Amino acid sequence: MGRVVLVTGGAGYVGSHTVVELLKADHTVIVVDNCVNAAKATEGDGLPPALERVQKITGKTLTFHELSLLNRQALVNVFSKYKVDVVIHLAALKAVGESVEKPLAYYANNITGTLNLLEVMSEVGVKSLIFSSSATVYGVPQYLPADEKHPTGVGVTNPYGQTKYVCEQIMKDLAIADKDWRIVLLRYFNPVGSHESGLIGEDPNGIPNNLVPYISQVAIGRRPHVNVFGNDYSTPDGTGVRDYIHVVDLALGHEVAIAKIFQPDFTGAKAYNLGTGMGISVLEMINAFSKACGKEIPYKIVGRREGDVATVVASCALAEKELNWKATRGLDQMCEDTWRWQRLNPNGFS
Ligand code: UD1
Repeated sequence: MGRVVLVTGGAGYVGSHTVVELLKADHTVIVVDNCVNAAKATEGDGLPPALERVQKITGKTLTFHELSLLNRQALVNVFSKYKVDVVIHLAALKAVGESVEKPLAYYANNITGTLNLLEVMSEVGVKSLIFSSSATVYGVPQYLPADEKHPTGVGVTNPYGQTKYVCEQIMKDLAIADKDWRIVLLRYFNPVGSHESGLIGEDPNGIPNNLVPYISQVAIGRRPHVNVFGNDYSTPDGTGVRDYIHVVDLALGHEVAIAKIFQPDFTGAKAYNLGTGMGISVLEMINAFSKACGKEIPYKIVGRREGDVATVVASCALAEKELNWKATRGLDQMCEDTWRWQRLNPNGFS
């Protein structure tokens, strides 16, 4: 059944891919985004390029409002225009290093923005929410694979991670206080890849912080080599191991979460990991990307990056059991799709 879905941060990387899957599933989509981390519309009141392309991919239309969640009145105005069934809340600042330098900006945007959203939703009586959380809430994993029962908020090393943890806590408390709330917390592992069309993808500002966008810019010639942050971890090849998940699988996770939230017996706030359960090392990723782009990716081993851990891998059994969701796209497809996007859009959306 098609729902009216309001997506905050819908013009971004995860957002645009999620909106594609929502439109394909016949939902009506309203995107709000301040475009602080997404290319803006070239004409005054047009759509951001990522959303233009979402419409091209799906042959369907969506509605867009450029606004910040810090602007409470603008948010009230949007909610008063539509009969929203469920909100998918993705809008947030997400650069770990920057969050250490600008903690107030991160707490204001991510926490005050979320509080505004929750307050306005309460006021208008929209109490169904899917929240973009992160494996970062597990801190340094105490056991692997990390399942949803793993302690959260212990050893979170940066303000970005803290904001995800605090937002989860706020939502859990809200669901305890008011039984009408239905909340799904989706804990993403490492999203990579792009839509197979090559029309949308990750378009980082400045130097990419994350591994795959960095490799991809080396492959296209924008950067000379990849810096591998340490090869002395206790992992099979000494480099960091992560659970990379194709962004289209991740997007589909939001789609199934909507179905879950509207099941009559669903209550409270419930967390699900979205990963693959498979660990990939930095060197394995570089090799797979070399294969996908048909050229050697130069790299140098450098020192460890502060705050990194050896291995983070998800247990995805709960999502499989309760959401009937499982990632199906493997490492080669992650690299091939990332490369197609990068090759067709060497400078991203600009
Ligand atoms: C990071 C964030 C996490 C966030 C996630 C997705 C940290 C500690 N964690 O995860 O909170 O949710 O991004 O945005 O920053 N690597 C290199 N060279 C590079 C970049 C990365 O060797 O240029 C290595 C890292 O050491 C790590 C792996 O690649 O072993 C993945 O790094 P990255 O893509 O930054 O993701 P995470 O650190 O896992």
